[in-house]
Amino acid sequence: MCELDGLLPMDMSIGCILLMVATVYAVVQMSRFIFADADFTLLWATSFGKKPEAQLKGRVVWITGASSGIGEELAYQLAQIGTQLVLSARRENELERVKRECLGRSRLHEENILVLPLDLLDRKTHEAKTAAVLEHFGKIDVLINNGGRSQRSLCLETNMEVYEALMELNFLGTVSLTKQVLPHMIQKGTGTVTTVSSVAGIAGAPLLTGYSASKHALQGFFNSLRIEVADYPGITISTICPGPVQSQIVQNAFTEKLNKPLSQAGDQQHKMTTARCVRLILCGLANHVKEMWIGHQPFLLFFYVWQYTPTLAWFVTSILGKKRIQNFKAGLDADAAYFTKPKVP
Ligand SMILES: NC(=O)c1ccc[n+]([C@@H]2O[C@H](COP(=O)([O-])OP(=O)(O)OC[C@H]3O[C@@H](n4cnc5c(N)ncnc54)[C@H](OP(=O)(O)O)[C@@H]3O)[C@@H](O)[C@H]2O)c1
Repeated sequence: MCELDGLLPMDMSIGCILLMVATVYAVVQMSRFIFADADFTLLWATSFGKKPEAQLKGRVVWITGASSGIGEELAYQLAQIGTQLVLSARRENELERVKRECLGRSRLHEENILVLPLDLLDRKTHEAKTAAVLEHFGKIDVLINNGGRSQRSLCLETNMEVYEALMELNFLGTVSLTKQVLPHMIQKGTGTVTTVSSVAGIAGAPLLTGYSASKHALQGFFNSLRIEVADYPGITISTICPGPVQSQIVQNAFTEKLNKPLSQAGDQQHKMTTARCVRLILCGLANHVKEMWIGHQPFLLFFYVWQYTPTLAWFVTSILGKKRIQNFKAGLDADAAYFTKPKVP
């Protein structure tokens, strides 16, 4: 006899309704995921969490790598919110340009924005730079470790100096500045240290062996530091992991030789806009999100697959990775065309 024979019509209709609800729920969640551009925690914070406008107004935020790309856009959006800023990078003229633009777009005054040239590689200066910020503003509420450089070269062709430089800049430079700023935050009992890592800090990708290693190092460092400072509930340690975002990162990437520039960066228009990436970052900061995954599909899927099913990730990446190298060798952006025939310019 069929097992359903034992069920009353009422039980069956409740069962059907539950099944329909579950199916609709699954379809809705799947569509949300297809169109998502950040992990679900960050998207939740963006839609329902505290607003950056309320949380970050009047705070003192120190941004490294503020002369270009993500750091520059962070400066603009924070200025519009009314955040006081410290803008750091090596190129002082570019920082002055960003400052003027911030003043033009906001109600901030001259004294609310400090231009502080800083070389992340020059670690012996970091103590004095931190002291200069404290002298000007009296406090640091948020440090955004954003300055860094990427890589476009295959391991077999890359000199050891390039690996050294990537670790010195992306990893040790960031650690050095953090070590100067953190004691001040601990002393005042509050503060956020957030670091722009990368999808390459979670996953591996060809052409990025050194860059990915430096970002994995940052992930390990800050994940451990977060636990060390767990006794200070006012301190937040977070990492930001963007996928491809429009900026100068590819133009400025290390190649196989230390001072050799990249011959062709390729079109960057297919990447997430800097403005959207930064809005997501600010929502994450306002809500103390500890790790933010930011990226259009298929990069967002890539995060989840690498995190939860690494064996599948290695299989898929070995296929897509070949395409990445082909794109690069064809003079395109490495991430330009995974699923279409590359259009060589
Ligand atoms: N764009 C992406 O697709 C993407 C994806 C994932 C992660 N990220 C990360 O996002 C961060 C910002 O990069 P971006 O995309 O905005 O690239 P970008 O436009 O090239 O900006 C990089 C910034 O880092 C600064 N910088 C480089 N070397 C420095 C040094 N020795 N000392 C101090 N500052 C230095 C540069 O300023 P100066 O040249 O004036 O010093 C510039 O302001 C980086 O950490 C990068 O790894 C970017």
